[in-house]
Parts: sequence; C-alpha cells; structure tokens
Amino acid sequence: MDKRDIQEIVRNEVIKSVIDSQGFIIAGNWKMNKTKHEVISFLDEIKDHDFGSKNTIIIAPPSPYLYLFEDKLRYSQVLYGVQNLFPKETGAFTGEVSYVVAKDFGAKYAILGHSERRTLFSECDLLISKKVRICIQNQIQPILCIGENLEQRKSGDYKRYLTNQIKEGLIRISGSEIKEVIIAYEPIWAIGTGETATPLQVEETHMFIRSYLVKEYGTEIGKEIPLLYGGSVKTSNIKELALAQSVSGFLIGGASLEASAIIEMNSILSNK
Ligand code: PGA
Repeated sequence: MDKRDIQEIVRNEVIKSVIDSQGFIIAGNWKMNKTKHEVISFLDEIKDHDFGSKNTIIIAPPSPYLYLFEDKLRYSQVLYGVQNLFPKETGAFTGEVSYVVAKDFGAKYAILGHSERRTLFSECDLLISKKVRICIQNQIQPILCIGENLEQRKSGDYKRYLTNQIKEGLIRISGSEIKEVIIAYEPIWAIGTGETATPLQVEETHMFIRSYLVKEYGTEIGKEIPLLYGGSVKTSNIKELALAQSVSGFLIGGASLEASAIIEMNSILSNK
C-alpha cells in the first residue's frame, strides 16, 4: 500500500466518523413546483421508506398539497411543513395561510424569511419576526432563513448583515424559546445558481453564526440551535458540505424534488 492509499483510507475514516457523530436535518423546499400527480408519486415513493432514526427528513410543499401529505405520511418517518405563514390566526388576509390551517394538516415546520420572500415579496425583518413569534407560540418549528447577496459578500460586510437578520428575526423570542428555532444560512448567490458555497466558506460562516448565537444566548443553548446550510445542495456535494463544522443539516430546493435524491442524501448522511 503506498502513501496515497493510506491517506485515502484515513480520510474516509475521518469522513465516516464525522458523519456518524451527528444526526442531520434534510429539509426540502419545493417552492412553487409539482402537480398533484407528481406529488402523489413522490409521496408513494418515500412514505414507507426506512430512513433510519439518525436524520430528520422534512418536506415543505406548496400549501394546497398539505392534505396529500397528511393523508400519505400519516405513518411515515417523513415530516412536513409550510414555506410561509401569515402571522395572524384568521381573518381578512387574502391569499395568505395561517398557522391554524398548517397545524390542521399536521405541518410541524415553517420556512420563514426565505430570500425569495424577502426580495420578491418585500418581506421585512419586522414581519418575519412576527411570523417566528406566532410559530413558537403555536408549536410550529420555525426555520428562519438568513443570507447575504453577492454584493454584500464581496464587500466583506456580510457578517454584520447576517447577525442583523438573526437579531431582528428573533427579536420577539425569549432566551428560553430560542432552542425551538432552526436557522438556515442560505447565501443568495448560491440559491438555484448551481454555485455552491465551498465547504470552507460554509464552515467559516457557520462558525461565525455559531459564535454569535453562543454570545447572545449562552453556550448551552447557542451551541444546540440547529444551523442548516442551503444553496445548490445536491447528492454530489452534500457529503463534503456535511464535513464543515457547525452544519446541522441542509435546506434543499431543486434537488429535493426527486424522491430518489432525498433517499440518497439520507443514505449518504447515514454512511450507508
Ligand atoms: P436550491 O434552493 O437548493 O435550489 O439552491 C435552496 C433554497 O432556496 O432553499
């Protein structure tokens, strides 16, 4: 065996032990995709699949399909959520979906403040913070998305921008409630572009966010808040990204549309 073979064996062992050492969240954000028939065949493919107990699988479909998720995933390991919520219980809010409706269909999670909501629908931190609050009050786990655009990244000022998004988004949440929140770091320049942040960039940014959380909420809580990475994650790069420190899982758009990809990503993050 030459030196390179030995290095390869050692590297594979290190990768295996890092992946073995934690459970990952694999969250799919379907955005505005899929027809009813496509949803049914996706759900039929995953509903009885044995994902093991290590990772948590979550899918956020367009809300009209929630009834299918409730029906098909009743006895499944796969959990589901919504892509957005309006921070009121009921009332004259044309086109919006409330937590009451989401809960009625068994949704356990809500993606909030996604960059597409922030940029295309002008959502501000104030509105997002109200959404986070109503979720926490009603036992829906918020996945608060943050992320800088390319200009902010290049300016070098993106860390200030990220901490501001976290601070404003969580302003209505008490220290003890913080542990119910999931944060997803999604650099806008990597969403849907095929240009993934490098594992080094992910690690560096996640470590920065982690240290901010520890500083704000104390070590015990700050180190436990799940921190997802999102932006062009797929079966071919998920393993490398999982090795980056402080990555608790992934928020996945395009690559979550295929049931086989979700199954494969879970296998990769289970060392199978
Ligand atoms: P992508 O989307 O995986 O297609 O880049 C991620 C997201 O927007 O959550």
